[in-house]
Amino acid sequence: MSGGYRVDVLHGVNLDQLGRRDPALYGTFTLSELEGHVSGFAAEVGLEVAFWQTNHEGELCEELHQARERADGLIVNAGAWTHYSYAIRDALEVCTLPAVEVHISAVSQREDWRSHSVIRDLCIGCVEGKGLEGYREALGMLSERLST
Ligand code: DQA
Repeated sequence: MSGGYRVDVLHGVNLDQLGRRDPALYGTFTLSELEGHVSGFAAEVGLEVAFWQTNHEGELCEELHQARERADGLIVNAGAWTHYSYAIRDALEVCTLPAVEVHISAVSQREDWRSHSVIRDLCIGCVEGKGLEGYREALGMLSERLST
C-alpha cells in the first residue's frame, strides 16, 4: 500500500476517441470505461487517482505546470504528441514529478515514427502494447517509487 499518494492520469490528443479507433490497436473500450478499470487498479495498490484529457497541446502544458500542486506522480499517454512535442517535453521537465509513459498500442512495432518518444528519458518507465493492463503496470511502478 502507498499511503495517500495521488496519481494523475493525463491523456492527450485523440484519446477521447477510444471506442471509435482501430479495435485491433486500441481495443473497444471507451475512455470512461478505461478510467473505471484504472480506478480499480489504483484502489488495489492504495493510490488515489484522477483523470484528465485534452485535444489541445497548450492545455496539456498548463496541466503539467500545475500538476505538482495536486499530484505525487503521473501517468502520461500523450498520444501522437509523444512523438514530436518538445513543448510537452519541456513542460514535463518543469513538472519534475515521477511519470510513467503509457501507450495502449505497441508503438515500437508500428510505423517507424511511433518508435520515437520525446518524453521517454524524462519518465521513470514506459509501458506499451499492453492495453488496459499497461496502466496497472504503470501504477505499480509509481507505487513502488512513491513508497521508497
Ligand atoms: C498511443 C500511440 C500513439 O502513437 C498514437 O498517436 C495515439 C495513442 C497509444 O496509446 O497507443 O494516439 O499513445
